[in-house]
Amino acid sequence: MTPTAPSRSVRLTGWGRYAPAQVLTNADLERMVDTSDEWIVTRTGIRERRVAAAHETSASMGAVAGLRAIRTAGLGVDEVDLILVATLTPDHWMPSTAALVKEAIGNTRAAAFDVAAACSGFVYAYATATAYITAGLARNVLVVGTELLTRFLDYTDRSTCILFGDGAGAVVLSASDEPTAPVGIELTTDPQGAYMIWLPAGGSKAPPSQETIAKGQHLIRMEGRETYRFATRTLASTGLAAVARAGWTQDQVDLIIPHQANIRIIEAVAKGLDLPMDRFFVNVDRYGNTSAASVPIALAEAVNEGRVRQGDRLVLVAFGAGFTSGAVALEWTADPTRGPLGEASVSPGDVHVRQPADWDSVDPIPPALAEVLARPLPGHMDLSDVVPGEPAHAAHTV
Ligand code: ACO
Repeated sequence: MTPTAPSRSVRLTGWGRYAPAQVLTNADLERMVDTSDEWIVTRTGIRERRVAAAHETSASMGAVAGLRAIRTAGLGVDEVDLILVATLTPDHWMPSTAALVKEAIGNTRAAAFDVAAACSGFVYAYATATAYITAGLARNVLVVGTELLTRFLDYTDRSTCILFGDGAGAVVLSASDEPTAPVGIELTTDPQGAYMIWLPAGGSKAPPSQETIAKGQHLIRMEGRETYRFATRTLASTGLAAVARAGWTQDQVDLIIPHQANIRIIEAVAKGLDLPMDRFFVNVDRYGNTSAASVPIALAEAVNEGRVRQGDRLVLVAFGAGFTSGAVALEWTADPTRGPLGEASVSPGDVHVRQPADWDSVDPIPPALAEVLARPLPGHMDLSDVVPGEPAHAAHTV
């Protein structure tokens, strides 16, 4: 990456998302743990979430969403000079997932690195991209949030396994010589909550071993009530701080795109801010909590569904393990109609995550999900009886 001219304004020029095709419903979870659709819907708002197939990884999903964002921006892949990937479920400890995404989309010139801030990761990466552009260190930055959480869940723990899902979202931020409205950014980290949501083993403090696996320390653990309290408090305060930094008041905000963790958290924030729920975009019912992917998936859906117009004032706001929180207040300048075109122009087969030469592959699917992932895909029509010998139809994905 070569430094470019300093101090430019920043525009969001591209956006994209990817959701794996297979759906894990509350009814499926009823068969795994002592829970009910009624409990999950009432306490979280979640009805279903997506599950990545065995051949998919955080890098592959992030690459599809990223390439879609680049196409939406109308850029060539080599016009991107920095790639940031926010994830708490990287393909490997090293190399970075960002390096794999770079290769998968065919980019040859970007610097690439991961950003670790759990569910706030995308907002942290967005802030980092903004800093690089305004400092003149990058012109077009691909910011990806991608997660494959369903491989890190304890399917005997009903308080966590019902919450999370897989997917990816991305934006492109570009340097602009046009004057733009100020961007307001607020980031916070409160290590008091460090062990409220965590994954105990696998790092240097507890390297993976038979013992850590026997204790289930390789799976996500969470103190739900404490996290809930932190979330309701911080989503509001962090969002408001970003709004103030942009020089706005809260009633001037057109749409808030919050981290999709729990509908009750979003409703509590709406009540606390005295804002109607129609100012908040919600899709937690269909995806569950996709951590760092949640805000960019929601943003892409909000824009593609016609909820965002040029000149609208948006707030992206997230909270997560750490505890971290982050918010970005921005004015939307891109043509919203470009989103569906960018999305349609990229299919999962257009990205290629290279396998290591000596890869001794393991089955990555948790046994509890084997049956779900063996099911025919929703929207998939088996035509083998109709046209004998024809290859199966491509899977339905978004
Ligand atoms: N089905 C049925 N009952 C359940 C389930 C379930 N899936 N899970 C918990 N329960 C039970 C509990 O055992 C408890 O029973 P008890 O009263 O007999 O002890 C009862 O339901 C109430 O449990 P609470 O934990 O008080 O339930 P709560 O209303 O707080 O909802 C939840 C739990 C959904 C986890 C909520 O606390 C929450 O959403 N917290 C925030 C979680 C979050 O957002 N995490 C993501 C952080 S982002 C990141 O960085 C990864």
